[in-house]
Amino acid sequence: MQRILVTGGAGFIGSNFVHHAVSHTDARLTVLDKMTYAASRDALAGLPEDRVTVVVGDVADAATVDPLVAAHDTVVHYAAESHNDNSLSDPSPFIRTNLVGTFTLLEAVRRTGCRLHHVSTDEVYGDLELDDPERFTEETAYRPSSPYSASKAGSDHLVRAWVRSFGVRATISNCSNNYGPWQHIEKFIPRQITNVLAGGRPKLYGAGANVRDWIHTEDHSSAVLRILEAGRIGETYLIGADGERSNLEVVRLILRVLGRAEDDFEHVTDRPGHDLRYAIDSTKLRKELGWEPMFDDFEAGMARTVEWYRDHETWWRPAKEAVESAYAAKGQ
Ligand code: NAD
Ligand code: TYD
Repeated sequence: MQRILVTGGAGFIGSNFVHHAVSHTDARLTVLDKMTYAASRDALAGLPEDRVTVVVGDVADAATVDPLVAAHDTVVHYAAESHNDNSLSDPSPFIRTNLVGTFTLLEAVRRTGCRLHHVSTDEVYGDLELDDPERFTEETAYRPSSPYSASKAGSDHLVRAWVRSFGVRATISNCSNNYGPWQHIEKFIPRQITNVLAGGRPKLYGAGANVRDWIHTEDHSSAVLRILEAGRIGETYLIGADGERSNLEVVRLILRVLGRAEDDFEHVTDRPGHDLRYAIDSTKLRKELGWEPMFDDFEAGMARTVEWYRDHETWWRPAKEAVESAYAAKGQ
């Protein structure tokens, strides 16, 4: 039976992976999570105690990480500071967790020979023009725009260097924007859904022309599991589900699903350095590893996500006021 260490396993995507791995493998899993504001114990509720253990600790702390890595066969590394807007207000935790944390893990797997899968983002590639026929591939040059994406780009480079210089057994995936249950309400889709549920209006940065390539978090998890099973060591795989939508389209869809007029939103101050468009070509993952997304109907996925936030108001409500005050202070 495999023993998998999941860093950041109490966050939005990491917790989904833990549930996915419990259902689709016989692995035993340990979550290592600092339990920052972005973590949720509720997202890990209902898991079998004999299969999943939670350790509260910092991925950048070698004294915590080293013995844990030594006790596992595989590490899946989700732990990160993950929100662009926060990285513009205060980059420092992004440098510590995303760079020093990844370095700490790499040193531990270098000593033990443990397999590492590093979870990253398509934002390392910068942005595309709206009318660019090209999409990001594994060959696209790195050109990050924000402190968040630069810290993730740096962490990818560290992983590649440790593979080449030290023979560490690692793979990397760069995924597009995720949506689904348990996403923190600071992020675009849950912020707009909960704004409407709380009686307010969606807030669109700038004109709303920016495009993101949406994938359901369950599809991200199935792709990571597939890479763990069959990915080639040293390789990078891009994960995406052909889900390009402008932010304006997404806001209109949320309003429609919630029975509100499609123009019942506000334009707010744009994000500095706001990336225009992300788009993933996931041909390598599909052809080489035979992966396909299951959630290919974005409208249906959004309707289910809206229902989920309606049903989980006790989970998001306590954080709502503080999140909105922080945005309001920046005119967002
Ligand atoms: P999240 O912010 O919801 O969760 C991050 C988790 O990491 C939290 O549980 C937090 O407590 C934990 N964490 C933070 N600092 C830590 C530390 N120092 N030590 C241990 N744990 C720590 O983020 P998410 O959206 O679930 O993203 C998870 C990963 O996926 C990140 O690496 C992110 O870059 C990547 N990713 C996210 C997206 C997306 O759309 N959200 C897309 C592609 C890739
Ligand atoms: P976000 O969820 O922060 O993800 P990322 O910055 O990683 O793409 O934002 C997604 C898009 O939505 C991005 O173009 C910024 C925009 N946005 C808004 O228009 N309004 C908002 O309130 C937020 C949080 C984001």
